[in-house]
Amino acid sequence: MWLYLILSLLALTIGYAFRIYFRGKECKINRDISKKVIVITGGSKGIGQETIRQLAKHNCSIVFGSRTKPIEFLNHLNKYYPKATIKYIPLDLQNWNSIKQFIEQLKIEVKKIDFLINNAAIMGTLTRQLTQYGLESQFGTNYLGPFYLTQQLIPLLKQSESPRIINIASVAHTYEDLDLKDINCDRWANSILWSRIYTYRAYGNTKLSLIMNAQEFSKRTGIKACSLHPGVVRSEVLQFQLSTKWSEWLLKILWPFFAYFTKDCYYGCQTTLYCIMMNDDQFVDGGYYDNCQLSQPKYTSKKRAEQLWDFTLDLIKKIEKEQQ
Ligand SMILES: NC(=O)c1ccc[n+]([C@@H]2O[C@H](COP(=O)([O-])OP(=O)(O)OC[C@H]3O[C@@H](n4cnc5c(N)ncnc54)[C@H](OP(=O)(O)O)[C@@H]3O)[C@@H](O)[C@H]2O)c1
Repeated sequence: MWLYLILSLLALTIGYAFRIYFRGKECKINRDISKKVIVITGGSKGIGQETIRQLAKHNCSIVFGSRTKPIEFLNHLNKYYPKATIKYIPLDLQNWNSIKQFIEQLKIEVKKIDFLINNAAIMGTLTRQLTQYGLESQFGTNYLGPFYLTQQLIPLLKQSESPRIINIASVAHTYEDLDLKDINCDRWANSILWSRIYTYRAYGNTKLSLIMNAQEFSKRTGIKACSLHPGVVRSEVLQFQLSTKWSEWLLKILWPFFAYFTKDCYYGCQTTLYCIMMNDDQFVDGGYYDNCQLSQPKYTSKKRAEQLWDFTLDLIKKIEKEQQ
């Protein structure tokens, strides 16, 4: 009887210790950010929404943009964090007119930006979809839209004493197969494996691109930037993959295991908070953070980052010309 009791206690302690490990670290540093202006893409749900909630506790100014206006969430923020200033502006990162309108509205709301968090993204589209500019949709939403937005926000960022850009990347950058000659992944267009394999590789490409964008940013603009992996987080990012009946059932069956090994959105936003709370002397420009500490991304190089930056500028010019 005693043996069973001791073994059960031991199993529970080990199980709990592993759970703490998988749940991830909390941001333990703090500073006064009440005078800071933070712009975040996404925020209608998931990690972005929790990031806003946690930042609102610091009474700062936050502007966020997404396609959906989260009315209940905005009411919740106004009720519980009345000292924070929170504004929602509609934004569709796939549509550059929407990005321009977002910026116009933003310029009315704020005179500077201290932190820009490029958080919004989609993952795992079941078929290869193209945006109105003919771009693979994950590339258009996760990388090119944020690049286009960030470039145009440089003047507002430069109004801050110490601006910082935070790109939410992912460990999925290690699935990458980035080929600048085939940015739209035409090579996998007709593969039946798109929905299960290549869609993640296309997603991984966008995340690697965000990491390299952060590495190249200050060299090109003088503004410091970093990227990060938030962890594997129980958000709505799997919405496409879970839209099929069988995957919905599979997740229901596997939910206890999934929940055990993953983070909730509170822990999912901790590394973002960490990248905001770090002082300038702690912050590593171009760094890649994971679990509230500096980490090392794969497949990046100075040369690749430079090539990607130049390629992106050319691509934007080409699309803008086509749109005239
Ligand atoms: N969850 C994870 O395990 C995980 C792991 C690694 C990295 N990440 C990264 O973490 C970030 C947040 O993801 P999440 O898990 O919170 O996902 P999520 O719950 O699906 O939230 C995604 C957010 O992006 C916005 N969004 C999507 N398409 C958009 C568009 N075209 N224009 C503007 N906003 C758009 C969504 O708002 P609307 O739909 O209202 O537009 C939503 O607010 C993403 O960059 C994701 O790649 C997540």
